[in-house]
Amino acid sequence: MKNKYKVAIVGASGIVGRTALKVLEEKAFPNVEYTLFCSEKSAGKKIEFLGINYILQELKETSFNKNFDYAIFCAGGDVSKKYIPIAVEHNCVCIDNSSIYRMDPEVPLVVPEINMQEAYKNKGIIANPNCSTIQAVIPLKPLDDKYSIKRIVYSTYQAVSGAGREGIEDLENGINGFPPKKFPHPIFNNCLPHIDVFTEDGYTKEEHKMINETRKILNRPDLPITATTVRVPVLNCHSESINVEFEKDFDLYDVKQLLQNFPGIILVDDTEKNYYPIATKADGYDEVFVGRVRKDFSVKNGLNLWVVADNLRKGAASNAIQILENLINE
Ligand SMILES: NC(=O)c1ccc[n+]([C@@H]2O[C@H](COP(=O)([O-])OP(=O)(O)OC[C@H]3O[C@@H](n4cnc5c(N)ncnc54)[C@H](OP(=O)(O)O)[C@@H]3O)[C@@H](O)[C@H]2O)c1
Repeated sequence: MKNKYKVAIVGASGIVGRTALKVLEEKAFPNVEYTLFCSEKSAGKKIEFLGINYILQELKETSFNKNFDYAIFCAGGDVSKKYIPIAVEHNCVCIDNSSIYRMDPEVPLVVPEINMQEAYKNKGIIANPNCSTIQAVIPLKPLDDKYSIKRIVYSTYQAVSGAGREGIEDLENGINGFPPKKFPHPIFNNCLPHIDVFTEDGYTKEEHKMINETRKILNRPDLPITATTVRVPVLNCHSESINVEFEKDFDLYDVKQLLQNFPGIILVDDTEKNYYPIATKADGYDEVFVGRVRKDFSVKNGLNLWVVADNLRKGAASNAIQILENLINE
């Protein structure tokens, strides 16, 4: 462990970046010095962090001359594509929130509760998975280990904060009758079965991310998975219905025990009291909330789960900072 680490937060003015700052304040690492980067647009603006005013700095090609140990990238795929290779050349280990390196076989795709050991083998880049994937694979991991997953059907209900500042603005402006700028249709009063762009096969990129990233994280490259991802008029926290078939038979009580005992999961499952995970209750937490745990009687060894998590925290900032914390404490 070094006496002092230098860490860059790229995209500190964005919604994931600001959440990262909040999580870093909570962590209060004693031995880390931060520099906050943004684009030309926000450069020079002040941002309160750790009790002082930090000045946001414009990210430039020369920014990584300053010997950073680590960088957390929260500024989108184009910025990661351009600047991460420069940072890596300067021996800075980058934890990337964008999707561009996630499926690169040389890049570990890490959820610390599942495969932190992969992060230690990094060659300069560690990818943070997609927000909707992180919260799905956490409950699936202990179940796959014990019962071996045969097939997954994902249906998501994703908050507007998943689309960044502009997504939130579209919902807030839509409530006041203004037309959308970020989404192709009004998100207020609508559910849009369209997240990221459409691909030739009729799926969206978000659906492909969930399918491919689940296979990579669970180390099940051929696992049959399908997904429908939907944007809903919820400010923050993604909800997901997960239908899963196993190779082996299971006991519902054992499933609940496995879920309850896995790190990062809170089981909220008492239908008599109307207890099940909801977005407003998951907001601000790092845990993944799981409920409505029940058998799917239409197939052999089928199970249904309802899973909710804060997409800005566990789905992005907190997962990245958990990785950083483990690397620093290694
Ligand atoms: N939102 C989520 O739930 C979520 C979850 C998982 C992963 N992610 C990923 O996290 C990343 C950030 O998403 P977000 O939702 O936080 O977006 P956002 O709110 O739109 O923020 C974008 C950030 O990137 C900065 N930026 C833009 N161009 C830049 C440049 N050329 N150089 C340096 N900084 C630049 C912006 O700075 P300015 O203020 O100067 O414009 C801003 O700080 C994306 O890759 C996204 O896919 C998001």
